[in-house]
Amino acid sequence: MGAWLYFAFLMASPKLHILVLAGGESTRVRTGAPKALLDLCGRPLLDYILGAADSLGPESTTLVLGPTHQALIESWLKSSSRNGWKVVIQPEARGTGDAVRCALAELPAEGRVLILCGDTPLLEADTLSFLAAQPGGALLSCLVEDPSGYGRILREESDGALLRIVEEADADDEVRKVCEINAGVYVLDLQALHLAIAALKTDNAQGELYLTDAAVQILSDTDGTVVCLEDGEEEVQGVNDLVDFASAVGSMRSRILEEHMLAGVILDDPNSTFIEDGVQIAPGARIHPFSIIRRGVIVGANCSVGPFAYLRPGTVLKDGAEVGNFVEVKNTEMGEGAKAKHLSYLGDAIIGAKANIGCGTITANYDGKAKHATHIGERAFIGSGTVLVAPVRVGDRAMTGAGAVVTRGHDVQDDQIVTGVPARPFPSSD
Ligand code: UD1
Ligand code: CA
Repeated sequence: MGAWLYFAFLMASPKLHILVLAGGESTRVRTGAPKALLDLCGRPLLDYILGAADSLGPESTTLVLGPTHQALIESWLKSSSRNGWKVVIQPEARGTGDAVRCALAELPAEGRVLILCGDTPLLEADTLSFLAAQPGGALLSCLVEDPSGYGRILREESDGALLRIVEEADADDEVRKVCEINAGVYVLDLQALHLAIAALKTDNAQGELYLTDAAVQILSDTDGTVVCLEDGEEEVQGVNDLVDFASAVGSMRSRILEEHMLAGVILDDPNSTFIEDGVQIAPGARIHPFSIIRRGVIVGANCSVGPFAYLRPGTVLKDGAEVGNFVEVKNTEMGEGAKAKHLSYLGDAIIGAKANIGCGTITANYDGKAKHATHIGERAFIGSGTVLVAPVRVGDRAMTGAGAVVTRGHDVQDDQIVTGVPARPFPSSD
């Protein structure tokens, strides 16, 4: 695939523009919220295709949005690393051809454009750059087991040339049997696109302007290619409803887990392990079943996580740290070899190397208004059932007795032992 990329950069026209269509109303998702922002393994669904597009280093990037979800999607866009994308509004969702029509004013008269759908998050950058390297333009297709819901590719019987793309809604029983589907990815000549979009008609079952009609026309005029992706059913899958969404989550999750395993992370049971995109795990770490690791977490070498652990954003486990069953960790650093093996909540904490966090320890980090930090020193020993009311500090090698409640501001000094509720030095002087 690396060779593909290199080839693509050599061949791709320097003037490759990218257009992503996300102007639909998300009606089939039925939640009232935009499917573009559905959280898919830690990132908004739309972010994946925008990221793949960005990695091609295009001349310009444009995104079509509809008015219904514009505000939400734009506010995410501005706060993200995709803030370089230009937004165009499609006033009414009148089809993919209409979405392109709305964006054309923002695109130059000449050059090439890669058009993508916002709802195909699994498409890989290598596939896109291979497509972009096709001299006469191209369209991506795929042979799938279940073609339902997709546009079907119809070819000339004599020479296999692209004839038409027929949408599910327009297809008769014969056409529905066709298993080669349109993945919704096109590389087209811009001059030809301006002409073909202007000539589009709405004479179809949905009364929409179909981009597919224009694409077929342009590719036949420019000697374009249909690139049929082998074994690509997962990669091309589109998300139209929440059944599709769950399937995309499953595929993305497997892809992420596989990457970790191939990089040396030991997963006892991938089927019950959830790791979001953007998690760093060092080779040799072991993740036991029923564990969830959220975006941004960093796990060091030889760490042990789970079973039934929940590592939330901001968690850093230094080498050899252990987080056991029913432990939730958030925005917390655990030092080298520190252990929290059972039934704990550790939030907004910094825990020193080799500290032992006893079963049932809780950092009470929230006072109803703000979150506060807990510091636990190196080799500290936190007794079972200790509650640490933040902000609070427990010194190096200090100990708390079982059931101690260390109240805010009553820091425990290095080597000190405290017990009781509220916790006081032990043995006490009175
Ligand atoms: C589309 C293709 C179909 C292909 C499938 C691949 C057409 C007519 N059909 O079907 O051949 O197999 O994608 O996944 O192109 N959109 C707009 N404005 C609109 C309508 C849609 O921007 O007015 C956007 C949507 O937000 C979405 C994308 O275009 O991101 C595709 O639209 P969608 O309605 O999902 O098309 P499909 O029925 O999946
Ligand atoms: Ca779709």
